[in-house]
Amino acid sequence: MSRPHSLGRIETVRAFAPGRVNLIGDHTDYTGGLALPMAVEMGTTVTGRRGGRSVVLSSDALPGDAVFDLPVSGPLQLDGWGRYVEAVAAGVHPESGLTGRVTTDLPIGAGLSSSASLEVAVALALGHPGPPLDLARTCQEAEHMASGVPCGLMDQLVSVAAVEGQALLIDFTDLSVRPVPVPPDIEVVVIHSGEERRLAASAYAERRRSCEEAAALIGPLRRATLDDVDGIADPVIRARARHVVGENTRVLSFAEALAAGDPAECGRLMLESHRSLSVDFSVSTPRLDAMVADLSGLPGVYGARLTGAGFGGCVVVLARPGAVWEGWRVRPSGGARVTVG
Ligand code: GLA
Repeated sequence: MSRPHSLGRIETVRAFAPGRVNLIGDHTDYTGGLALPMAVEMGTTVTGRRGGRSVVLSSDALPGDAVFDLPVSGPLQLDGWGRYVEAVAAGVHPESGLTGRVTTDLPIGAGLSSSASLEVAVALALGHPGPPLDLARTCQEAEHMASGVPCGLMDQLVSVAAVEGQALLIDFTDLSVRPVPVPPDIEVVVIHSGEERRLAASAYAERRRSCEEAAALIGPLRRATLDDVDGIADPVIRARARHVVGENTRVLSFAEALAAGDPAECGRLMLESHRSLSVDFSVSTPRLDAMVADLSGLPGVYGARLTGAGFGGCVVVLARPGAVWEGWRVRPSGGARVTVG
């Protein structure tokens, strides 16, 4: 029997990638340090049909469509959210196009990694074969290309590799990950400061450069001690390095305290982390400082800190259930997933 003519198989696809909140360990990923982010249940979904040689996506959250032909080569042509989609396509080299829709229940640009979640969902929808580290790296490169911000790998890696019910202890020196259960009797609440973050602002790149300068003086910050840091002459570089070296230690202590069911110790470490991000790393704002001070005085709150890059965005709070009334209560979600029909 002869085979019927192929009508060109049309595949429907649905890809979801979560956003994240970082419990502790900020501005450490790009130094080979430690961080403990957790994926949240909010995220980005891409649904559509694969086929043809163009990408045509609309969004329920943002204006404009992402429309371009494959393959993507040369400088990116699009602006806005479409630029991220185009950058992902440049890295994925998809075999076929995609027509569909992007929906999200993440607040956009608020510090919950809406762009990483968009990148990972689009990469999967476009057919990235998915070894987790490759997928995260492709999306990190897309972020660099689209935004110009030299971000680390944390947001994309946790969106890809998260495990339901757990935060992810990530070691950015060897890129190993260890899930750490988040006890169900602890509430994680994320509260937006109302200050829009301009991550693309040069401040992030400047902080990253300072850390590289510090490492050129005293070696990899992951292995450096506070004594090594004290030997740095420049007070600004010294302060930046002090944050990173201290933060790595706090991440490990936090992971231990979480596993040991000691939320009070976790909270204490969060307050230390915030102080270090504010005083030594200078990425807080008066509003974030005031929120952390107010929240940490509430009964039932173990601790609070700015989360993510800073310069506005969100505060993460660890509390007894019901202690905090505002914000988003988030639970640790599993990582990105895709179904193809
Ligand atoms: C942003 C970046 C991450 C990380 C954090 C700060 O979210 O995308 O790579 O550097 O800031 O911890």
